[in-house]
Amino acid sequence: MAKDQELTILAIETSCDETAIAVVDASGGLLLPKFRVRANIVSSQIKMHAPYGGVVPNLAKREHIRNLPIILKQALRKASIGNPQKEISAIAVTTGPGLEPALWTGITFTQKLAEEWRLPVIAANHMEGHLVTPLLNARVSKVAFPTIALLVSGGHTQIVLVKKWGDYTVLGETVDDAAGEAFDKVARMLELPYPGGPEVSRLARTGNRYGFSFPRPMLQQKNYNFSFSGLKTAVLYQLRDLTEQKTPFSKNDIAASFEDAVIDVLMTKTMRAAAEYKARSIIIGGGVAANARLRSRMRDAVKKEKQGRALYLAPLSMTGDNAAMIAASAYFHAISNDFASWKKLEAHANLPL
Ligand code: KG4
Ligand code: ZN
Repeated sequence: MAKDQELTILAIETSCDETAIAVVDASGGLLLPKFRVRANIVSSQIKMHAPYGGVVPNLAKREHIRNLPIILKQALRKASIGNPQKEISAIAVTTGPGLEPALWTGITFTQKLAEEWRLPVIAANHMEGHLVTPLLNARVSKVAFPTIALLVSGGHTQIVLVKKWGDYTVLGETVDDAAGEAFDKVARMLELPYPGGPEVSRLARTGNRYGFSFPRPMLQQKNYNFSFSGLKTAVLYQLRDLTEQKTPFSKNDIAASFEDAVIDVLMTKTMRAAAEYKARSIIIGGGVAANARLRSRMRDAVKKEKQGRALYLAPLSMTGDNAAMIAASAYFHAISNDFASWKKLEAHANLPL
């Protein structure tokens, strides 16, 4: 597809527990990408999975199958699309990483639509979606490269060097738990509901960040890898000791001290990568990018550094899983004519960036 052509992309995202469909107009090419979100419908299954304390893949699959046709109708209506075959340029679908049974539901649904509407298909990467999310902010277009992206979600924690859209080098990632996963596990220890990230950060707001001294794993190591499982265990032991000794304590202090430990590590490594690779900007995306403390500390750190680096945060309404981000990532593939054969689409649980 031509680089100067305005495209209308219908995107489908079912990698985890959100069924999402979006319609996005895209133009401007690689250098000045512009997106207009016409519809961005997200149906969350959180309530259904909450009693299990995490996402149950087969439950997610069943719900996606039930939701997809309903959400498609809503998205088309919201975007005022009367004739999809004529008005949509391409269909994008997340093929990984994610839960395989969940991914397949979006793929099978896409295959039916692609055949019926005779439209080209783009296989999208969920993490590339999180990476490009800041572009969905109407004020952001020309991103200064190279950029360092910190991608923090429930399944991933990665630092990525981005030389241009589509050119990604993963500099480091978590060797065990993802940052969001650590938030969710600590929330469970504190008997907070799932998903725990927003709950922990809510308690942390009024907690003492110096109340407990938790480790900052791998902070001193020169690489860009992360490890959060030791930090999670430290919280577990702390809670066990407090309970055994019948010492009264504030959950808010635990939450605040834990949150700052995670953020210290995320920030230090991101800023170090930005300096080493002479990044002109920093991107933060993924579910944990909703964390208010991470956002404000990153803003302060970039300002204090006085290097003139721009900071692009995923818009708060789109940090979590959604299909608008999938449409935005797919645009870059469409203008490079990187299409997939709908018959050959496959789910890849561990699809790399
Ligand atoms: O990107 P996302 O919606 O789904 C995945 O791709 O995994 O990320 C979900 C993760 C969950 O672990 C959730 O607890 C975490 O993001 N999260 C947060 C906050 N909001 C969501 N973690 C910390 N603070 C938050 N405010
Ligand atoms: Zn995600």
